[in-house]
Amino acid sequence: MRLVLMGPPGAGKGTQAQFLASYLSVPKISTGDIFRMHVTRGTELGHEARRYMDAGDLVPDEVTIAMVKERLDEDDTRDGFLFDGFPRNVAQAEIFGDMLAAMHTPLSVVLELVVDDDEVVRRLSGRRTCSECAHVWHMLFDPPSVEGICDHCSGKLFQRDDDREETIRHRLEVYADQTAPLVGYYATSGLLEGIDATGPVEDVTARAVASLRHWGQ
Ligand code: AP5
Repeated sequence: MRLVLMGPPGAGKGTQAQFLASYLSVPKISTGDIFRMHVTRGTELGHEARRYMDAGDLVPDEVTIAMVKERLDEDDTRDGFLFDGFPRNVAQAEIFGDMLAAMHTPLSVVLELVVDDDEVVRRLSGRRTCSECAHVWHMLFDPPSVEGICDHCSGKLFQRDDDREETIRHRLEVYADQTAPLVGYYATSGLLEGIDATGPVEDVTARAVASLRHWGQ
């Protein structure tokens, strides 16, 4: 199964990707997570990506594509993958399509998590991430037992720099301008499946799994 999970910032892509990748037994590849890992390690790529991420803009395509190509060359992607947050514009989708065609491994399906802007702001402003194990919590919808501390590993929780309200609004504009056109792009190729991403996490997962079963998984 070669799956792309798309949707606005805060739609729950990372949350659902974790369950779905395990359900499908494929690696979850989040371009946002890879960029953040480079930022944490202080690499040159991280230094360049950070400027764009903090502003809520897309990292330039050539940087993103080179990173994705390198990741796809790893052995664990041979039997499938789940991309979370890539592709993010039509240019990336076209190059991605060419890369997969050259490997004779076309995409199986694109799941779009559908949720409105107010819910996005609610979800992102309450998001907290563990600095040790990277588990994602929510202050209201999925709070840890002790405020600011991860239940799984006792690591300290932090708020992402791009989760400030004004940056969230800008990320939503970037999504509408640059990423939303992918809905039409993938619908035309017959690969798109929209999923109602409102309500409890387990309900969204159940809808996504039902949809994947419909696609033969
Ligand atoms: P990225 O990390 O991909 O950010 P994003 O797409 O903005 O998505 P988020 O990670 O913010 O949200 P999510 O949908 O994963 O939601 P989550 O599951 O955490 O990218 C960051 C930046 O990297 C970009 O802005 C860009 O600069 C750069 N970048 C990345 N990919 C790129 C690319 N391809 N090209 C160029 N640049 C790129 O959930 C959010 C919160 O809601 C959590 O607290 C969670 O617990 C909670 N939650 C989840 N589901 C529910 C639910 N059903 N009910 C209640 N709460 C819920």
